[in-house]
Amino acid sequence: MTIEIKKVAVLGCGLMGSGIAEVCARAGFDTAVMEVTADLLERGLGRIRASLDKGVQKGGVSREDADSALGRIRGTTDPGDLKDVDLFIEAVIENIGEKEKLYQVLSKVASPDAIFASNTSSLSITELAATTDRPDRFIGLHFFNPAPRMKLVETVRTLATLPEVIEAGEAFIRKLGKEPIRAPDGPGFIVNRLLIPFLLDAIRMVEAKVAEPEAIDKAMTLGAGHPMGPLALLDFVGLDTSLYIADIFYGELREARFAPPPLLKRMVALGYLGRKSGRGFFDYSARSR
Ligand SMILES: NC(=O)c1ccc[n+]([C@@H]2O[C@H](COP(=O)([O-])OP(=O)(O)OC[C@H]3O[C@@H](n4cnc5c(N)ncnc54)[C@H](O)[C@@H]3O)[C@@H](O)[C@H]2O)c1
Repeated sequence: MTIEIKKVAVLGCGLMGSGIAEVCARAGFDTAVMEVTADLLERGLGRIRASLDKGVQKGGVSREDADSALGRIRGTTDPGDLKDVDLFIEAVIENIGEKEKLYQVLSKVASPDAIFASNTSSLSITELAATTDRPDRFIGLHFFNPAPRMKLVETVRTLATLPEVIEAGEAFIRKLGKEPIRAPDGPGFIVNRLLIPFLLDAIRMVEAKVAEPEAIDKAMTLGAGHPMGPLALLDFVGLDTSLYIADIFYGELREARFAPPPLLKRMVALGYLGRKSGRGFFDYSARSR
């Protein structure tokens, strides 16, 4: 049986949720976005408007398409407004307790046929599914930042997921103009399982004084064709987030390559969190990079 997805709700309109909502609306889906307070909702909707405006300025999207996408987005702080939704995409803070509380609220309002998806980067899809009333209709849809630009979405099923549910998720991702790739429900799925040890190795090279951060990043951008060096990427992701992810992966896999390097812990302890704090492996205080 084919499941048709027409109405989508994106839960959380932060960095990822706003990008995902924009992508859904641009692809023609009726898109609800939910935040915890009216202020946070307004901020999130503002982020979507700004991103669409930027797209118009750069010529990637017409004013008309941007306006019709905005017209398909409705904001709410009330889960009761989401009764008619076919697919819920959860993109709230990376905290299992918060996610669980939200799924419990949604279970009460959502249609029994509705699919729940999580955009989590580091939590187990199976564990999240098990906290809901519908583990057979629960999947991972892992978008990348910035969601409007990044082509890949990792799709994750669990032992309990019905085949037609993961297929519906993948068909939906294709309708967004993105490429789904099926990933196992293990730490880091595919991309981060490879990327995180590489980033941590770059920190270990700084620690071991193999080279300065500038040299490492130049080596990987000019020598390996990476669009961004590993240390600039860590600053972009946030060193606190990177430490949190490394701790989770190491906790589960117990492989030395996932262990957070001491330098990372010390930088986070001092509040050197990367771009967002003005200082990480590079200095952003004068917007020098
Ligand atoms: N940041 C990334 O690069 C990235 C990439 C892929 C996936 N993710 C995942 O996406 C999710 C969100 O990350 P983010 O970076 O967008 O975080 P964020 O902090 O920017 O946004 C989270 C938003 O969720 C809102 N929120 C919290 N509880 C809520 C609730 N009960 N109902 C509705 N809204 C609620 C918060 O107010 C906040 O605006 C996390 O699971 C993260 O692992 C993040």
